[in-house]
Amino acid sequence: MRKNIVAGNWKMNKTLQEGLALATELNDVLASATPNCEVVVGTPFIHLASVASAVDTSKIHVAAQNCADKVSGAYTGEVSAAMVKSTGAEYVILGHSERRAYYGETYEILKEKVQLALANNLKPIFCIGELKEEREANKQNEVVKAQLEGSVFNLSAEEFGKIVLAYEPVWAIGTGLTATPAQAQEIHAYIRSLVAEKYGKEVAENTTILYGGSCNPGNAKELFANPDVDGGLIGGASLKAADFKAIIDAF
Ligand code: 13P
Repeated sequence: MRKNIVAGNWKMNKTLQEGLALATELNDVLASATPNCEVVVGTPFIHLASVASAVDTSKIHVAAQNCADKVSGAYTGEVSAAMVKSTGAEYVILGHSERRAYYGETYEILKEKVQLALANNLKPIFCIGELKEEREANKQNEVVKAQLEGSVFNLSAEEFGKIVLAYEPVWAIGTGLTATPAQAQEIHAYIRSLVAEKYGKEVAENTTILYGGSCNPGNAKELFANPDVDGGLIGGASLKAADFKAIIDAF
């Protein structure tokens, strides 16, 4: 059975003190709750160790938002998958459209990052999704297919079984525009069919596919109600404990 997940992506927000306060508040509101999904918070690197020790990690799983495409050594400013793992983080978000667009992350670079994450027992949350022009040209299916083929379809079935996919249409990120539940279901089902073609039906049925892009307490329930939408990757609305909790409660 695949897992439902609600994952926050804080992006480049919150000082260490603010981030710790947010994580602690979330921990408090979840202490007496029994969520029907796994809860993940994706923090900046500098917050990882503090957040992992401040929260109940059986309830709040910690994610990094990136890791290096190299093992270790003279790569000033980079943070390796092994370092991320050593903080207590369990997940790493990879292939976010902001990393692809602003930091030149190519299919090849992401392929390395995914492999290093897996080699260090981190679970990648691998993001895919099309640009506005690509959606307008009805090219979304070929875009997500190329992204999967370029960075993760080289994995063995066993390795692939450890990754979570996140479909994030770039035109919906931070814009207030959300894919309709029908649009999300259609492309999630297509993504699952690609996984089935490559790895077989069982792996496909067990793959968690999250939706991301202006997901909020008002639309989460409708999005998550779709059979192929297994939760969300939440940006802006993960920065307030009450909003994030309301999205968790959509399950
Ligand atoms: P928003 O929820 O702010 O649109 O961001 C989505 C996202 O990029 C999550 O990774």
